[in-house]
Amino acid sequence: MRIAIINGPNLNLLGKRETDIYGTQSFDTYFEKLREKFPSIEFSYYQSNIEGELVNELQRVGFSYDGIILNPAAYTHTSVAIGDAIAAIKTPLVEVHISNIFGREDFRKLSHVSGKAVGVISGLGLKGYELALSYFLQ
Ligand code: DQA
Repeated sequence: MRIAIINGPNLNLLGKRETDIYGTQSFDTYFEKLREKFPSIEFSYYQSNIEGELVNELQRVGFSYDGIILNPAAYTHTSVAIGDAIAAIKTPLVEVHISNIFGREDFRKLSHVSGKAVGVISGLGLKGYELALSYFLQ
């Protein structure tokens, strides 16, 4: 099974960035443990701070992979292009947020992604990525 994990802007700073909200673990450390726990899964991992690069990656994996786990970060709330890319591809996608976007500022309650995703996991920390993965494994 091929699963793509895609992270949006500023998620390269996990572990250093607003640790009261996002925790102290880096994504690399978390991802290493996830890979060890699921050795039979073929993962691809991509992070970018640039909107168009995220669109390119969605298009790249969106016709051949079995599942996509996407945290679009701040682009969740602004990017029509990422929403359109998800509508255009075939691979099912789960939207993940580390924090609970519905319990924060009002502007975070709008998502251009949720309506096109098979589901949304928000507020369960980094564990959300593993929960999204278990959806694809079931
Ligand atoms: C986030 C929530 C977004 O509102 C924010 O812009 C992020 C991270 C999360 O994982 O909780 O950068 O997607």
